Amino acid sequence: MTDLGPPDAGGGIDAQIARPDLALPDLGPPTEVTFPPSGSTSAASGMGSFTFGAATAAAQIEDANPATDWYLWTRPEAEGGLGNGTFVGDASRGYTRAVEDVDRAAELGLDSYRFSMDWARIEPNRDDVQEDALLHYDAVVDALVAAGIEPMITVHHFSSPVWADDPRRANGAPCTPSDTDLCGWADPIGAPLLIAELAEHARMLAARYGGSVDDWATINEPINYLLASYGLSVFPPGRNLILGGDAGFARFVEVVKNYIRAHVAIYDAIKAADTIDADGDGVAASVGFTLSVGKWQPARRNQPSLHPADIAAADRVEAVYHYLFTDAVQSGGFDTDFDGVVDEDHPEWADRLDWLGVQYYFRSGVTGASTIIPGIEAGVCFGMFDFGACLEAADPTHWVPTMRYEYYALGLYDVLVDFGARWPELPMTVTEAGIATEVGARRAEHVVRTLEQIARARADGVDVRGYYHWSLFDNFEWAEGYTPRFGLYRVDFGGTYDRTATEGATVLGAIIAARTLTIAQRNQYGGLGPMTPEP
Ligand code: BGC
Repeated sequence: MTDLGPPDAGGGIDAQIARPDLALPDLGPPTEVTFPPSGSTSAASGMGSFTFGAATAAAQIEDANPATDWYLWTRPEAEGGLGNGTFVGDASRGYTRAVEDVDRAAELGLDSYRFSMDWARIEPNRDDVQEDALLHYDAVVDALVAAGIEPMITVHHFSSPVWADDPRRANGAPCTPSDTDLCGWADPIGAPLLIAELAEHARMLAARYGGSVDDWATINEPINYLLASYGLSVFPPGRNLILGGDAGFARFVEVVKNYIRAHVAIYDAIKAADTIDADGDGVAASVGFTLSVGKWQPARRNQPSLHPADIAAADRVEAVYHYLFTDAVQSGGFDTDFDGVVDEDHPEWADRLDWLGVQYYFRSGVTGASTIIPGIEAGVCFGMFDFGACLEAADPTHWVPTMRYEYYALGLYDVLVDFGARWPELPMTVTEAGIATEVGARRAEHVVRTLEQIARARADGVDVRGYYHWSLFDNFEWAEGYTPRFGLYRVDFGGTYDRTATEGATVLGAIIAARTLTIAQRNQYGGLGPMTPEP
């Protein structure tokens, strides 16, 4: 950690910190934007096409499942759980309502719906596959296909069966892999077993659903997930390797490599088992993964900064978040010390990415003046963690209070253009973008502004083929519980659980119906100016 000492008013380090001007550019008068029909997610024929979708994930929407780690992790201690955060309970009752929820996707006119099938419901005990759960997902897939909506399945989205890594086992306690506890991604013997289990699970899904499903995401937001679940103890199984000094960091790097290996194994399993080209694009399985991206703003003492140390820190965070995983599974190399330079060859990981899912929510500060992630030597503002990196929103109406970050529309364009230049052959889809809000007009503004930035990137020649709004309806927002509402449809939690369309749904539905973003919609909702405030 770099100790800068107290702030000084004289000629010391504070005086040397130039502060950037964060004023927003003038993008000129809005024009009408049209979106062509949906096409292939990865084949060359899909270039220029555009898919409208919405996304969910099983553990965030489905009725209670005691076999999943999130159930145990959040269940009150008095009831035998670990009592972390808000109890997930029945979430949005998205299991019992799954088939009728397809009607919501259909009424929006979605081309595609991205969701995950709960591994812990299908395999609550190791190798004990539940046919009734699979019959349930059969019905969901059939309903989507009948409605003309292409399913996209995420294989692993932040939740696991308890037997993968039992969250009741204390950090640092010895673990011998067994059928009831494989000891998780950090265990040298358990991790390869876990990879094999996940690949077997993916193979089974691909064989069963390959006739209806072509689009697959192996894993979701790997760096975010691993930091929360294995680095900082925020998600189950609650491991805290990042807090364990250099030895802990070394183990965390192994966890990252094991999760890359899992992606590769899932990719290969799906490619082998899904041999049916359901949508006629010439590709039986388009397999990608979804990546959490952000706009990383150099910062110091809670102010934007041009200090070289802060710029370097933001670059390192960007390298880990944006490039490390994506490079690893394309060119087969790994950056072992997270310094942005590939230093280990892994040809066995190469060429395992047909398309990339980009997921954008926020701008966040990064400082070189303090360290949260040892290897990266940077302090990142993650809501509850502030090491001088947290910044106020440039426009206070862009602040998202329940998630404690700034929505910054331009950041998505910047990331897409950067990725387009870095990986010109890699098709992309925005597999998540959304805003937590109680205000329908804010969600509509978010929808229009997101599409505007995607359209700008497309106009610049970037191969981005779609946008999935997060989320179709309100759901369980992990460590934040039920306060943040991300749904196009509002859910009456604890009451009827009915879904009610928000203004975001109305506006997105109108855009999809016309496959056009009109000048009137852009004038009303778009641009970079103030948003309707959160009350
Ligand atoms: C995740 C979702 C989450 C969303 C909103 C993404 O990080 O994939 O599961 O609900 O962002 O925070």
